[in-house]
Amino acid sequence: MTKEDGGRRGRAGLDRRSLLGGAAGVGGTLLAAAGGARAEEAAIPAELPEWSRYLGPGVDDEPYGKPSKYEAHVIRRNVEWLTASTESSVNFTPLPWLNGIITPNGVFFERHHGGRAEIDPTKHRLLIHGLVEKPLVYTMEDIKRLPCEDRIWFLECAANGGMEWRGAQLNGCQYVRGMIGCAQWTGVRLKTLLERSGLKPNAKWVLAEGADASALTRSFPIEKALDDAFVAYAQNGEALRPGQGYPLRLILPGWEANMSVKWLRRIEVGDAPWYTRWETSKYTDLLPSGKAYKFTWVQEANSVITWPAPEHKVDGPGQYMIRGLAWSGRGRIVRVDLTFDGGKNWVTAPLQEPILPKALTRFYYPWRWDGSSVIIASRAIDETGYVQPTITQLRNARGRNSIYHNNAIITWLVNSSGEVENVQVA
Ligand code: CO
Repeated sequence: MTKEDGGRRGRAGLDRRSLLGGAAGVGGTLLAAAGGARAEEAAIPAELPEWSRYLGPGVDDEPYGKPSKYEAHVIRRNVEWLTASTESSVNFTPLPWLNGIITPNGVFFERHHGGRAEIDPTKHRLLIHGLVEKPLVYTMEDIKRLPCEDRIWFLECAANGGMEWRGAQLNGCQYVRGMIGCAQWTGVRLKTLLERSGLKPNAKWVLAEGADASALTRSFPIEKALDDAFVAYAQNGEALRPGQGYPLRLILPGWEANMSVKWLRRIEVGDAPWYTRWETSKYTDLLPSGKAYKFTWVQEANSVITWPAPEHKVDGPGQYMIRGLAWSGRGRIVRVDLTFDGGKNWVTAPLQEPILPKALTRFYYPWRWDGSSVIIASRAIDETGYVQPTITQLRNARGRNSIYHNNAIITWLVNSSGEVENVQVA
């Protein structure tokens, strides 16, 4: 900052204060009309700001646009101690700074098992084989000739919230629920591909394999393959990003995202699950007895308040909007309840359209904070009647040794200075 800048800012500040004083009566009326919401004074600034006085860059400056430099904090983040290497690890979607239900492609969380593969789409092939009448190999151009659809679905890692089973570990909305993203996907139903090859009568299971260095494989029942399983080549209007499986990925809507195999190169149809023979890794849920659930594919109803959150301090008493997200792998969200007293009383938050099955659903709720310490939380209910459980209910059923499928109600403590902390109550 130059001396001149400093002086100018000083003068502007002074002008602003004097204008404020002069318009106090009007300002007071406006504040009352807005229900106490804080707003800047309605005065025109005394001097034009910097950006209004000079030409900006032209249309050839940025062929692929980026967010404003003032949004540089809205990025994916990872947790160093979580995994031994970054190639087999996860990063987290910056939920507390996002709006609506669509996750921008540049900040959609990533979970890789062998690093991010960079694939030449002209050399990529998808093989459909196994218990089919006619094995087929597709190029990307072949796949794009088939009947296509646009669908909005979330993808959530089974380990979302996994660090919180034994207690509140991470003080951030991004880390507590950020292994999720929601996008509009363009592609072809897996059913279309399987029907073109013709299923044999004993076709019961399907194996998907990725072309990354880990050759990740997952198997799932034929019923899911013939229901809503999807092979996507585009996300939010553009080709998949390499981190999301470019040029082709599987999507099993509503199911744990490790099964939505990226860099999809092979679909094999069989008569039994592959994990009984071989599969590169397993996702099971360890119970207090030492036994484990084998198949827990569905991501149950879940929600989180994204504002306020540990990343956002509440700036003094007054009127605010609670912002949050809810979702269910079983279908639509039908209700979201909010509590402001640690779960004693609940109110219902209006849901924003669109409310789509297996997609993020947005809720907003006007909130007046009186400056006292409060515990706030959200609770999602889906169309099957399933109610998002408390951490105690979840531990009673599953113990504390799990990593996966922690969809417990998340509680934020807003203390009297407006700081927000991840705490576990009830
Ligand atoms: Co599972």
